[in-house]
Amino acid sequence: MELRIGFVGTGKFAEKHQRIVSQMEGVTTAAICGRTLESAERSAIQWPDAKAYGNTEQMLDECKPDAVYICVPPMAHGEIEMSLAERGIPFFVEKPLAIKTETIAAVRDKVAGQRLVTAVGYNWRYLDSVAKARELQQNATTGLALGYWMGGMPSTPWWRRREGSGGQFVEQSTHLVDLVRYLCGEVEEVYAAFGRRIVHESYEGADVADVGSVTMKLAGGIVATISNTCMLPRGHHTGLDLYTSSGVLEIRSAGLKAIGRDRTTEYRNGTDPYVLENAAFLHAVRTGDTSRIRSDYADAFRSFEVTAAANISAEEGRPVRL
Ligand SMILES: NC(=O)c1ccc[n+]([C@@H]2O[C@H](COP(=O)([O-])OP(=O)(O)OC[C@H]3O[C@@H](n4cnc5c(N)ncnc54)[C@H](O)[C@@H]3O)[C@@H](O)[C@H]2O)c1
Repeated sequence: MELRIGFVGTGKFAEKHQRIVSQMEGVTTAAICGRTLESAERSAIQWPDAKAYGNTEQMLDECKPDAVYICVPPMAHGEIEMSLAERGIPFFVEKPLAIKTETIAAVRDKVAGQRLVTAVGYNWRYLDSVAKARELQQNATTGLALGYWMGGMPSTPWWRRREGSGGQFVEQSTHLVDLVRYLCGEVEEVYAAFGRRIVHESYEGADVADVGSVTMKLAGGIVATISNTCMLPRGHHTGLDLYTSSGVLEIRSAGLKAIGRDRTTEYRNGTDPYVLENAAFLHAVRTGDTSRIRSDYADAFRSFEVTAAANISAEEGRPVRL
């Protein structure tokens, strides 16, 4: 069965997913919707079968895609997902799901009611290093998780404003929050401290925090802390370290280092998590078998809630229970 795919968003990540699906058998980029018809036309020119739209509902009603990818900034979510859920169209949505819970709680309920096939771009879940860490965790007790997203300021203007991105913890470190949940269990309490050191003086209009640490208490007693900064002149490390009774598991996007009592073993990732997440979603759309999808809307909503709670905690200076 040929799958006809629609895209909402004409930026870097819409293009990344288009390039991946263009390599897949029986998948066509059939429609692209931009903020303006002109931006969609510029994007659609790359794909011979793609029709350009400047309005999502018009794209859905005219093109009737089998599935849609939503690749828009955090502040632009809510109505797009609702339009898809109302029409029963499966969707893949890039993280983060939104900035505020209120914007998308109704989407979560609608998606659940429709039993709609959804997938969310938490690509770290598809890493070989994460699968290996899960396997090694089976023989150990995990006690502590420490995560890091230490980098510079992305060039995208919407990223620098809280009302555009939700800030670094919501927009980037969400990958690590999601991994903590995937590997260690549900978060029950969040306490966050954020600060603004230089970024608001370095970039016009920037109001996001540029340093922060978030400590989370998990069901079962694991404690996790994720720290992030976007004030560095270049990227430093990004990843999650698990401290277990058998040693330390250092999870990175390139691989895993397992530090045991007597030896250290390094594993390198051999697969592309972006290809795997796309293949899992499109397999589910084609067959109804969702077993390969490692992050769906309902699950990702819980990761999103943790990051939204961190923003509340930092603003109000108190722990937030989930
Ligand atoms: N999973 C990953 O590794 C990963 C990596 C990069 C980006 N992303 C996510 O993908 C999403 C899109 O990121 P991107 O890098 O493609 O961004 P981008 O700025 O390159 O593109 C965003 C696109 O969204 C559309 N859009 C719709 N409403 C908009 C609005 N109100 N304001 C601005 N643009 C609007 C536009 O078509 C624009 O081209 C973000 O949520 C980002 O977090 C995920």
